[in-house]
Amino acid sequence: MITRIYEDYRRLSTNTAREMLRVVLEKPEAVLCLATGATPLGAYAEFVRQAKMQRIDFSGIRFVSLDEWVGIPPSNPGSCHYFLNRHLFQPLQIAPAQIYLFDGMSADLQGVCSRMDEHLEQLGGIDFLVVGIGLNGHIGFNEPGVAFDNKAHVVDLHPITKTTGQKYFQSETLLNQGITLGIRQLMDAKTVILMANGAKKTNIIQQALEGTVSNALPASILQSHPNCLAFLDAEAAAQLQDSSRRA
Ligand code: PGA
Repeated sequence: MITRIYEDYRRLSTNTAREMLRVVLEKPEAVLCLATGATPLGAYAEFVRQAKMQRIDFSGIRFVSLDEWVGIPPSNPGSCHYFLNRHLFQPLQIAPAQIYLFDGMSADLQGVCSRMDEHLEQLGGIDFLVVGIGLNGHIGFNEPGVAFDNKAHVVDLHPITKTTGQKYFQSETLLNQGITLGIRQLMDAKTVILMANGAKKTNIIQQALEGTVSNALPASILQSHPNCLAFLDAEAAAQLQDSSRRA
């Protein structure tokens, strides 16, 4: 894992956007899996801005979901669906045929998972993954205790995920389950960027990057990914023992 520490959120975002642009330019048919959440918002805004300015052709790029809340419709601004549409697909004018997302409203969630597994296999896996980290160390909805050989699955959300998840919703929302790509699919991604910013993430980032690899802290598995970049701002990196990694 290569760690880069940026002075502030703006530089973290700009540099993440630069990596994203590099991928779509180098591989015009790349498969991207881009996390939702507060962390990557700045990077996506910069990515969209640059992509429009450079008139990048997205017609061959494919997108897959990382995760979704079960029972939350795409019309709800707190859903991952809504987030991706608003911050990426609409501004970049991505055609529906290029997008494959989890349907968290389906009555057959197991079917949703197996169809995602098949779809991802047909695509040849993820080329480029952007993930954030939860305060409990989750990536996607791979919660503490998850099996590292899982593919797409439905999960009972961890108490911390249920509580912190409220920040995405306009009013108190019942969050019980999620649907997520599994660790095996994330570890198969050719390139991964793990992003974190802010003092809230300091402790969990230190454990994830420098602690033991364990499913008690799912993000720690990324230490063994052959091509994972940890992009952090100075606050999130504040407790790392090895501070020789400033960008
Ligand atoms: P955040 O979420 O980017 O909103 O902090 C990260 C996560 O829970 O994966």
